[in-house]
Amino acid sequence: MSTLSNSIEWKAIQAHHKKTHPQPLRKLFLSDPKRFDKLSLSFNDILYDFSKNLIDNDTLPLLFNLAKSSNLETKRKAMFSGEIINTTERRAVLHTALRNRGDQAIYFNQKNVMPQIKAVLTKMRAFCQKVHLGQWKGYSGKAVTDIVNIGIGGSDLGPKMVTTALTAYARPNLKVHFISNVDQAHLIETLAQLNPETTLFIIASKGFNTQETITNANSAKNWLLSYAPDKSAISKHFIAISTHTENATAFGIDKANIFEFWDWVGGRYSLWSSMGLSIALYLGMDNFEALLEGAFDADQHFFNSPLEKNIPVVMALLGIWYNNFLGAQSHVILPYAQSLTFFADYFQQGDMESNGKNTDIEGNRVDYSTGPIIWGQPGTNGQHAFYQLMHQGTKLIPCDFLAPAQSHYDLPNHHDILISNFLSQPEALMHGKNFEEVKLDLTGKDKLDENLIASKVFLGNKPSSSFLFKKLTPKTLGTLIAFYEHKIFTQGVIWNINSFDQMGVELGKVLAKVILPELKNDKIIDSHDSSTNGLINAYKQLR
Ligand code: F6P
Repeated sequence: MSTLSNSIEWKAIQAHHKKTHPQPLRKLFLSDPKRFDKLSLSFNDILYDFSKNLIDNDTLPLLFNLAKSSNLETKRKAMFSGEIINTTERRAVLHTALRNRGDQAIYFNQKNVMPQIKAVLTKMRAFCQKVHLGQWKGYSGKAVTDIVNIGIGGSDLGPKMVTTALTAYARPNLKVHFISNVDQAHLIETLAQLNPETTLFIIASKGFNTQETITNANSAKNWLLSYAPDKSAISKHFIAISTHTENATAFGIDKANIFEFWDWVGGRYSLWSSMGLSIALYLGMDNFEALLEGAFDADQHFFNSPLEKNIPVVMALLGIWYNNFLGAQSHVILPYAQSLTFFADYFQQGDMESNGKNTDIEGNRVDYSTGPIIWGQPGTNGQHAFYQLMHQGTKLIPCDFLAPAQSHYDLPNHHDILISNFLSQPEALMHGKNFEEVKLDLTGKDKLDENLIASKVFLGNKPSSSFLFKKLTPKTLGTLIAFYEHKIFTQGVIWNINSFDQMGVELGKVLAKVILPELKNDKIIDSHDSSTNGLINAYKQLR
């Protein structure tokens, strides 16, 4: 048995679960008129309501004990102060320094990292200004109209999520596009909309050696050169974001046009760094810095608030409760804001790459469940797709609902309809509709049709949390993203895993490199298992 699953705190939660589960939420609300007041927290313009969770007065205190026993407070300090907490890659984890808006120094290897962070922000601002004022010219002397970010994973999802979320703040006359997939359709169909004379490519890759990104970057370069008079066009149309300056210069990018960041920024935590350049270009540097400010506020809250009042800690502990004691396998994120289309996708990487681990930091195989499957899409769309299973299926799926109280737009009716759904879905999930209630609503012979009645019963008691915030501003978005990041961190600490490496993505990449040369000819392949051989040989026949 692992230390965690053998701990007094863990066992106390198990015993509590055994004694109290299932917790009938309807009853819990009836028996405590102050439940909402007790189980909700506010931070700036954000209200976090976690009262519709399957917890009673004893549950959270036991979970807080677990968090304390995992040394969360010490480990939180270790992260913020640049200790090597990513032990397998021997790296610090300092994305919080990128959004440090205070004046305190942050040290890594006895060196204050803040001056270099500020220097990059200054460089980003100057670059954005040049582009916005039309002073950055393409090979034919024209100003930039389209930014294309070529990257994948953390070098794509963050900027794509944020630029989509904040389109209402976009500057005029500048579009942004994202190419990630090595499937040529992604590149070809994006380039088909663009004019090479006015397109600026950002090659976004921490290591500048990711196969998909480099393949797309080379094809984009060939596309440009098929129009441009000579190779001097490359430095006018390509800039890079990378920790590997040499790789980027070898590609042909001018050293002056390489925006650096550092090894202590994980790919999936990099949107706060120069990796956010497409955000800054699209929204303006002031809005990018407002995003940083929102995240900084969340960092302060996470760092300074007692665990009981700490939103990311509560989010994390509720997740632990469902994941480890109630057997939930997944967690769904449901923003009632179309602009947050990629929010769940973003945290699919953020959470699953961070906490999808089966060994603890001492290298032992864990005997408890770790990171959940993260999924979701905006409401109300999801209501007409997968909510059926959430309401009447057999799975336990804890949900996060998120919505802005104010829209950026002002058509009549839309926002109230949206919000009425944001409010009704958690209520329906919790409340359900029992046999008698269904029967009451029926008339005539339907009232006697037990099959019909059974099919209309909603068992209810499905847990959810809700974030209601004033408006989706850059600052609020920054706060929300950082809350989720710190939730992931907190869970990783409790599970005693390294949330900052991603060894699990390597094996498939290595095997693809073995298979790639085998595809170059039509020879029959027999060096793999029969399934892989069969698929390779079928591909050779069908292509
Ligand atoms: O998929 C693995 C991964 O390393 C992610 O963690 C990262 O965000 C992505 O690849 C892209 O890496 P890079 O920015 O180095 O191209």
